[in-house]
Amino acid sequence: MIYLNGKFMPIEEAYVPVLDRGFIFGDGVYEVIPVYSRKPFRLTEHLRRLQYSLDGIRLKNPHTDEQWRALLEQIISHNAADDQYLYLHITRGVAKRDHAFPINIPPTVFIMSNPLLIPPQELLLTGIPAITASDNRWGRCDIKAISLLPNVLLRQLAIDSGAMETVLLRDGFLTEGAASNIFIAKNNVLLTPPKSHLMLPGITYDVVLELAQAHAIPYEVREITEEELRTADEVLLTSSTKEVMPIVSLDGRSIGGGKPGPMFKQLNQFYQQYKAVTMRAGNSALLSAE
Ligand code: PDD
Repeated sequence: MIYLNGKFMPIEEAYVPVLDRGFIFGDGVYEVIPVYSRKPFRLTEHLRRLQYSLDGIRLKNPHTDEQWRALLEQIISHNAADDQYLYLHITRGVAKRDHAFPINIPPTVFIMSNPLLIPPQELLLTGIPAITASDNRWGRCDIKAISLLPNVLLRQLAIDSGAMETVLLRDGFLTEGAASNIFIAKNNVLLTPPKSHLMLPGITYDVVLELAQAHAIPYEVREITEEELRTADEVLLTSSTKEVMPIVSLDGRSIGGGKPGPMFKQLNQFYQQYKAVTMRAGNSALLSAE
């Protein structure tokens, strides 16, 4: 069951007109929200980022947070899996093709849910290969825009070379992955680039930094050079659907002996613990160092 413009329906019955500006221009934004044991994870933060993306493309939020929460609750209950991932998608609506914003056109609002398949344990034990590429995206990567063609092409480069993610470098500095944020570890210090227009402000990125803080793991949020990336002891990726994953090679060269390292193991353990605590306590759970 999906939600489209006020109605719940089976996905096979859901259609949008070809003049939808999402279809014509990629003119819209989206969110991906993990649901564990039927509870959305970090929902307040995801709704806040959705508002930020909508503001970034100058599109009015069609719903209040309360309305979003109610819609998402219904979608979750209409779907069978306990662990799901919610996909929310809002476009600037249907109008005659013209780059300028249409006037008084309702947005298209689409929500679907799929079973959440987090990475299998064996991948966490072996780690994954990644490649690097030049970050050739636009200057507002902080907006979670549905126009993902550069990300699609960059991710496909990884797939074509038998890797699983593309780590992006802009002007000699690490930005993020094609669909993830990137951390490195060097001499037991966790490092990640600061939020800017050049990367998506990841919800998982925030959780990992909060976990580092709560568990007294030394960390620095600062620019990371290509040299630091390539000589890191560990490289990690984070995302709502991949959680925390170890990258064990870049462009065919091993990172940290080609095996997941202690920083990954610690952070993944804290992440799994935090998830479990949050789910038991509902979304009001705060991080604690217990
Ligand atoms: N993508 N950077 C990019 C470019 C992303 O697409 C994503 C996530 C992230 C991680 O953000 P978060 O921790 O909030 O998921 C960073 C989602 C999962 C997707 O497009 O499917």
